[in-house]
Amino acid sequence: MIEGKISRISGPIVYAEGLDGAGLYDVVRVGGKSIMGEIIRQKEGLATIQVYEDDTGMHIGEKIICTERPLSLRLGPGLVGTIYDGIQRPLKSMYEKEGAFLKPGQVTEPLDEEKKWEFTPVVKEGDSVGPGFVLGTVQETASINHKIMVPPSLSGRFVKSIAKKGEYTINDVIAVTELDEEITMSQYWPVRIPRPYKQKMMVTEPLITGQRVIDVFFPLSKGGTAAIPGGFGTGKTMTQHAIAKWCDADLIVYIGCGERGNEMTDVLTEFPSLIDPRTGRSLMERTILIANTSNMPVAAREVSLYAGITLAEYYRDMGMHVAIMADSTSRWAEALRELSGRMEEMPAEEGFPAYLATRLAEFYERAGLVKSLCNGTGSVSVIGAVSPAGGDFSEPVTQHTKRFIRCFWALDRDLANARHYPAIGWIESYSEYADEVKNWWDKLDARWATVRQEALDLLKKEQRLEQIVRLIGPDALPDGQRLILTVAEMIKNGFLQQNAFDEIDVYSVPDKQIQILVLMMDFYKRALEVISEGAPLLKIISLPVREEIVRLKTSVPNDKLEQIQTVRTHLNQQMLEVERLYNKVGAV
Ligand SMILES: Nc1ncnc2c1ncn2[C@@H]1O[C@H](COP(=O)(O)OP(=O)(O)OP(=O)(O)O)[C@@H](O)[C@H]1O
Ligand SMILES: [Mg+2]
Repeated sequence: MIEGKISRISGPIVYAEGLDGAGLYDVVRVGGKSIMGEIIRQKEGLATIQVYEDDTGMHIGEKIICTERPLSLRLGPGLVGTIYDGIQRPLKSMYEKEGAFLKPGQVTEPLDEEKKWEFTPVVKEGDSVGPGFVLGTVQETASINHKIMVPPSLSGRFVKSIAKKGEYTINDVIAVTELDEEITMSQYWPVRIPRPYKQKMMVTEPLITGQRVIDVFFPLSKGGTAAIPGGFGTGKTMTQHAIAKWCDADLIVYIGCGERGNEMTDVLTEFPSLIDPRTGRSLMERTILIANTSNMPVAAREVSLYAGITLAEYYRDMGMHVAIMADSTSRWAEALRELSGRMEEMPAEEGFPAYLATRLAEFYERAGLVKSLCNGTGSVSVIGAVSPAGGDFSEPVTQHTKRFIRCFWALDRDLANARHYPAIGWIESYSEYADEVKNWWDKLDARWATVRQEALDLLKKEQRLEQIVRLIGPDALPDGQRLILTVAEMIKNGFLQQNAFDEIDVYSVPDKQIQILVLMMDFYKRALEVISEGAPLLKIISLPVREEIVRLKTSVPNDKLEQIQTVRTHLNQQMLEVERLYNKVGAV
């Protein structure tokens, strides 16, 4: 056993002597309270340790014991539906055991060791296996079929024995290899090391979120990376929640990282009562939460991101599509800054350590669509909120994040002030996945790519016209250009704005999204024709169908899309009437 003692304390950073034999990133138990920490630097006989719990009252000279193991998560059935802190302590069972206040040094098993799970083997004795091979399954929740896999570190290549179908705890041995390695239904994995896979693949499929501005304009792929930067109160959390609730991932890992406690409470109170539209069951049955609110120790916040992504990778390895949300990566970067400051490292931009960019890259690079060790296809999509102070996107966290993500949903202060939600600005935001997901959309509705580009172009034109209007007023513009302003308004109100509190509008199926936008662009094209034939813009603006199109988002439920056809008929009829009227006038 390697044992040392505390020689200096600086907030969450503790220095220790006598830990020479301990490895970098080994977990240690610090002081009489035995609180958990991790060795983050070894230099000249002095180990630097970041502690994950409150070390108030700790003294120099107290002992430190090294566990000789890196910080690892316990992975197995029972993770889904649980709420953990950054070091995988299950908050609910700790609360039930010890009350509302976490005691330093408190150790609780992350997974229930008593609970029996129904295990169904899929291999038999003598079958050849390898790391990541599936040995059997457990129905973890109604929506999650948990695959019990051979841990990546095992060397055995044959199944010597395998448990029969039946009930087992996570500590029971369910398989033995020819090398007499025993396999249970749980395994450990060090959080800072990406889990292995066979091959990274090109992304092809969008992660459908039901949010029109995202799915149509700035799509994220399954296995992609996105950032949501936005100033205070612009809707980062609401957007993350909307995606967590509605996206078509198999599993959600939601990390509340350094944000206010009540935001986590919202998730906790809301998710269990919400129904997953795909399974008809509670959303918690496909969600894992990691809570590290602003009042919890900063070191645990630093590690919570790695814990979250490790959980995501574990389910990815089973062949699932996992979406992970981190709210907010800026608070995480602030934890890095605080720890780095305590360690008296040389600060770089705005006091952040020079390795901020590397750490962000390490996090986002763990996203991807992969062929797993057992030849399944799974993905981890990462969505990080960024909260730049004062909404200034030129600060280091936003700028570095931009280098590693391919989808940028920029929240716009003016839109939020105007209560245009989601406040994702269409000029500054972008997605580099549009080409990759085009094939998927083509199969659903081949008009996606064209109508998307037309609508984005129209919105760009509108932005330029708005500048002219500000200078000389709208009356100076010809009708054709004023029509652009009108249609842009329709797109903003009837397509981009989406009310999270409206029963119908909260989620749009892809079909509905595309049909609404196509109808708006058809309105534009028909109106342009009619105007060129002499009809005044005012006449077109006053057509009842214009309002009808804008209202489609809330008037047509996802399962009654045929109603959109009626509105299309109205569009044709009303435009035809105007045309007749003005053609006749012209003929007289
Ligand atoms: N899609 C939406 N539909 C309706 N209201 C919204 C939507 N998005 C945001 N809002 C409104 O904006 C408010 C602030 O949103 P939110 O808490 O998500 O912002 P935030 O960017 O996470 O803020 P903070 O910087 O404090 O974390 C919400 O309470 C809600 O009233
Ligand atoms: Mg927030």
